Amino acid sequence: MADYHDVVVVGGGGAGLRAAIAVAETNPALRVAVISKVYPMRSHTVSAEGGAAAVAAPDDTLDEHAYDTVSGSDWLCDQDAVEAFVAEAPRELLRLEHWGCPWSRQPDGKIAVRAFGGMKKKRTWFAADRTGFHLLHTLFQTALSYSDIVRYDEWYVTKILVDDGRAYGVVAIELATGRIETITANAVILCTGGCGRVFPFTTNANIKTGDGMALAYRAGAPLKDMEFVQYHPTGLPFTGILITEAARAEGGWLLNKDGYRYLQDYDLGTPTPEPVLRNMELGPRDRLSQAFVHEMEKGNTIDTPYGPIVNLDLRHLGAKLIDLKLPFVRELCSKYQNIDPVTELVPVRPVVHYMMGGVHTDIRGATPLEGLYAAGEVACVSINGANRLGSNSLPECLVFGNRAGRAAAVFAARYHREVPSSIVAQGRDEARRLAAELGRRVEGHQRIADIRTEMQATMENGAGIYRDGDSLTKAAHELAELRLRFRHAGIDDHSTNFNTELIAWLELGFMLDVAECIIDSAALREESRGAHQRTDFPARDDERFLAHSLVRRQPDGSSRVGYLPVTITRWPPGERIYGR
Ligand code: FUM
Repeated sequence: MADYHDVVVVGGGGAGLRAAIAVAETNPALRVAVISKVYPMRSHTVSAEGGAAAVAAPDDTLDEHAYDTVSGSDWLCDQDAVEAFVAEAPRELLRLEHWGCPWSRQPDGKIAVRAFGGMKKKRTWFAADRTGFHLLHTLFQTALSYSDIVRYDEWYVTKILVDDGRAYGVVAIELATGRIETITANAVILCTGGCGRVFPFTTNANIKTGDGMALAYRAGAPLKDMEFVQYHPTGLPFTGILITEAARAEGGWLLNKDGYRYLQDYDLGTPTPEPVLRNMELGPRDRLSQAFVHEMEKGNTIDTPYGPIVNLDLRHLGAKLIDLKLPFVRELCSKYQNIDPVTELVPVRPVVHYMMGGVHTDIRGATPLEGLYAAGEVACVSINGANRLGSNSLPECLVFGNRAGRAAAVFAARYHREVPSSIVAQGRDEARRLAAELGRRVEGHQRIADIRTEMQATMENGAGIYRDGDSLTKAAHELAELRLRFRHAGIDDHSTNFNTELIAWLELGFMLDVAECIIDSAALREESRGAHQRTDFPARDDERFLAHSLVRRQPDGSSRVGYLPVTITRWPPGERIYGR
């Protein structure tokens, strides 16, 4: 058996490193492990671009940040979580500053803030358009200063160990050697990010395969609001690489094939009597992605080998501003699209970006499974409800990474370093399962890549920007078929060193679980809210569905969806007001 740790954090991105630091700060006597399938600086947080929202300007208030978040979520968030979030976000960003994060500044030296989609005030802190890189780097170097934080870099967790309703650690494979270890702990914190790779076209890195969601689900923790999948309106058409909302915040326009700013034709909300700060391109993401579909249906998009696109026009911003505020956009356009946004239009289309749903937690990050915590995109607290506002995700990683770390530290310190014998046995069983798969030689087996590609197409066709009962039923049948085929999937590489095929097989198993949860939750929600738009149920239905979906794994492996009330503290359901 490998080393024992008091707290094991799975995932080395923004939430994971923040959680590990919080454990170390809360109780220096605790031993913390961070297990990550990639070197922490390669976690997907590194690719976050536009910024992190927190009230900073004198004309802004916590209540306004809370209200924007609540209405942006189409009232499906839990308002106690949102209130805690907006209150703690400024402290977290300031703490990052003290740890060395180079936030962009105004000429007078004060923190600079930019506008962001669905936010009525400028409150998004940024480090040019490489915010994720600087944030992650700051957390990584801070974590390095705690000697009690031990890292398992390039280890892949395959199972959470559970006995009598309590999590006791994980089983993980060291990628370099194939060594399989049981790593026990009094508390486990999942910070593995989202599951964009369940879909074919996504901003998410290849590593975002829903591992943590599936690990928790298999261990007995429910997943919440899985039907809410966010499409970001502007991804590069071939790669899916994000072109940050900051490009529109700085004044970029979205143009259809006739060069027309088509968003003026769409209702981005009930017009406000007050002048609002944003331009129409800074509507919320769900509404902008839906507007793209309508433009496509009207024949106003441009066909390309990589699907229909519209254009993002930054030319009027000029080279000086682009180089100062959007240097990464210019670099990405040049390297991946071979264009210069200073002089050329940028082709874009909506792209799967973020999961509003995830592992059900309370506002301390605790799941219903004792000893298991979750934070960041893998978790659903929920502050995002049916639609997350851009730039709320990075501070969510910090606020709830901190909260989960603190809660897990207190929990872990209550117990001795002992694990039940059944945990040791489970660890051995899991090691045997993995070794057996590695050694299994099946002639003419189903190929992992084929099943994965078909699963992704099923998800896009069945549960894309618009869904309906028929598309979801068809997707459910196709997924059931794919799960059957997955049983006969095999690997050709039987080596132990960096066996990426074995990992792809494990990831596909996780993704199929997550995909099923998305489809089943979407099928039961007979309304349209935020990112979940049903053409057969076009209206929001607070009477029946002002509730979180909770999907649980049944003993036979199937899923069952139930509902949980939404917490409303101060803002009763209303209309989403954005104006034009
Ligand atoms: O467009 C962006 O920079 C994305 C930000 C976010 O998802 O929070």
